[in-house]
Amino acid sequence: MTAMSTASPLAPALHDYVRTIETVLDRRPANRVIIREVSVATKELCASDRWLDERHRVGHPDYYTRHLLHRDPHNRFVVLALVWQPGQMTPIHDHSCWGVMGLVENSLEEICYDRLDDGKRPDFAELEQSRGTDVGRGGVAYLLPPYEEIHRIGNTSGKPTVSLHVYGRDLDEVNVFDQITGKVSPMRIKYYSPECGKAPFVI
Ligand SMILES: [Fe+2]
Repeated sequence: MTAMSTASPLAPALHDYVRTIETVLDRRPANRVIIREVSVATKELCASDRWLDERHRVGHPDYYTRHLLHRDPHNRFVVLALVWQPGQMTPIHDHSCWGVMGLVENSLEEICYDRLDDGKRPDFAELEQSRGTDVGRGGVAYLLPPYEEIHRIGNTSGKPTVSLHVYGRDLDEVNVFDQITGKVSPMRIKYYSPECGKAPFVI
């Protein structure tokens, strides 16, 4: 894969959105400033969905799909569109980076978790659910390490959902948590995009 993430030009609104994020990151602000400013831009972008190509709205009956829309040439962030069929959801996972999610079409449920242990055991975590929120069309949610970055999200509605995600790194591996046993497992994740081959994201 080349430094550029997509084979064809981005729609103008998405292009402007990427430029806005670059401008924010050029200032090297704190993560809480990044998520605040990227959240504003995300809310503006998600007020319409005309900027999202049909090819990036393609879902799959067996797994939710991650379409890579843009990868920053300096590896500071990636922009993804995720497509969720009814009932599809992630396991509980972390990110190790800032992140912002916006809803392009329909809604997602997000359940957030606090980590109660000291984090010294790499394969164990004690989690407690902190809140659950339905994020509707045009709404945004954020991830802010180290305390606000463990969650699970899923489509609990009866309709397909499309969401926009920005992460402060190339999110190719996350930790997955089993809340019952406390086990923590690193997991490789993939994109499902025409430009990346049809490798599904299957966790
Ligand atoms: Fe996530």
